[in-house]
Amino acid sequence: MSGDPRLPLAVVISGRGSNMAAIAQACASGRIAARIVRVIADRHGAGGIAVAHRLGLEVSVVAHADFASREAFEDALAATIDESGARLVVLAGFLRILSPQFARRYAGAMLNIHPALLPKFTGLHTHERALEAGESEHGASVHFVTGALDAGPVVLQAHVAVRQDDTAASLSARVQHEEHIIYPKVIGWIAAKRLRLVNDVVYFDDRPLSLPLIDAPGESSP
Ligand code: GRF
Repeated sequence: MSGDPRLPLAVVISGRGSNMAAIAQACASGRIAARIVRVIADRHGAGGIAVAHRLGLEVSVVAHADFASREAFEDALAATIDESGARLVVLAGFLRILSPQFARRYAGAMLNIHPALLPKFTGLHTHERALEAGESEHGASVHFVTGALDAGPVVLQAHVAVRQDDTAASLSARVQHEEHIIYPKVIGWIAAKRLRLVNDVVYFDDRPLSLPLIDAPGESSP
């Protein structure tokens, strides 16, 4: 067993890994008391694999395509997480839907980031859909993962004003900038034991949280 008191994280990615890199930076700078013990990609070609290697992180590829069923894939994913020694699973641009059984296995110990102000716009193409709906505000949410898609308790949200001339790409860039701030923040709260999930209720500093926190620059508590 390592004597390192920092919270060990397994970061699970499908894509570019920019959230993973932001979390790695927050760990490396000592801003949060956590460390990434494994990056797990569910695709051999995920761009984030090279990023993780450049950051000196240990990478495992558990490619969905290599398994005959979702169950077999999830068994391998869980085995890799458990073997890494991670105590918190951080889904960071992970594009696969996990079974309720998998979510239950890591209840209270698995986070996701979603590029929308949940409960609005679950699922994919959130930026396009927010623009089509004429929203004046959009953003990102960090939530605990439970069995239902993008439906676990939300901890922290960042709001982004939609501009008249926004495209999905310009809006997505501003939302991602906020993601890179709020995701490390929530992980830091868990590492500092300020935040936990008990029976689907979020506790912040031992008080139940009925609404998501809204990120504001420089803010670190409700
Ligand atoms: C992020 O926008 C995240 O909210 C969504 O997928 C994107 C992943 O980006 N689930 P990256 O791989 O972290 O760069």
